[in-house]
Amino acid sequence: MTRERLRLAMQKSGRLADASLDLLRSAGLSVTKGANELFYRIDNAPIDVLRVRDDDIPTLVADGVADLGIVGLNVLEEREAGARAPQEVMRLGFGRCTLKIALPEKAAYGGTYSLDGARIATSYPHILARFLDAKGVKAEIVHMHGAVEVAPRLGLAQVICDLVSTGATLETNGLAAVETVLESEAVLIRAPKALAPALTPVADTFVERVRGVTASRGAKYVMMNAPRAALPAISAILPGAGAPTVTPLAGRDDAVAVHAVCQESVFWETLERLKAAGASAILVLPIEKMM
Ligand code: PRP
Ligand code: ZN
Repeated sequence: MTRERLRLAMQKSGRLADASLDLLRSAGLSVTKGANELFYRIDNAPIDVLRVRDDDIPTLVADGVADLGIVGLNVLEEREAGARAPQEVMRLGFGRCTLKIALPEKAAYGGTYSLDGARIATSYPHILARFLDAKGVKAEIVHMHGAVEVAPRLGLAQVICDLVSTGATLETNGLAAVETVLESEAVLIRAPKALAPALTPVADTFVERVRGVTASRGAKYVMMNAPRAALPAISAILPGAGAPTVTPLAGRDDAVAVHAVCQESVFWETLERLKAAGASAILVLPIEKMM
């Protein structure tokens, strides 16, 4: 049976759930709760949102039960080796966190070799095993499904490998990070098989809109006046900008208005440098949409 509505799998609750819904809203999709908790409905596009446990998203998308999915790179990378894989469409720039190896603050650490023979508790046994292999370290991996940070206090394992975002969990438990195993963020994935013809344009439009939202996030529109002679210096300071738009100022031969889209963060320090280069009346505006 061919489906008439695209299915997008995302986390029902947890780390990425709210931000994933925000992404849909920013992409102009109106989300309403469905008859049950498993599905949300998009009213203004033929899309259903499948709300599931994050660990199930790679499998659902790889099997084509869902056409697209939003999932953490940490979950995507933790799949069994040889399992059918979904395709990565793009990184989404939110839900950033890091998988780290940590040990009690007072414990001495002498580099990855000192992990040889250690017991390491983690919810990410596959990622950790690959990391240890690459470092040529042999350790015993203890697979836990949650609350990994209590393993040292329980005497289960001296070392842990767990996700860190603010670092509060490590700190509360008297642990210190010593190695970075994986930098994670939310990722848009798609089914490896071609979608039904009717769903292809729906998916393409969705992906384009998400690309626009992701690209405009953090991007700023910067405007200023500047002496014509300062243009090269100013262009060099503007972070992640293409060629700026330069327009004349009425009645001024020596000065111009400069407009640019900056893809990277514009800090106070950036404005101070622009000013030092001769710019004045500098404005930084948010960008709502970008295509
Ligand atoms: C992770 C991890 C820690 C916490 C770290 O759990 O297991 O408990 O986040 O975050 P912090 O550095 O901001 O304190 P998560 O919320 O992903 O839930 P999980 O139990 O499903 O892994
Ligand atoms: Zn999970």
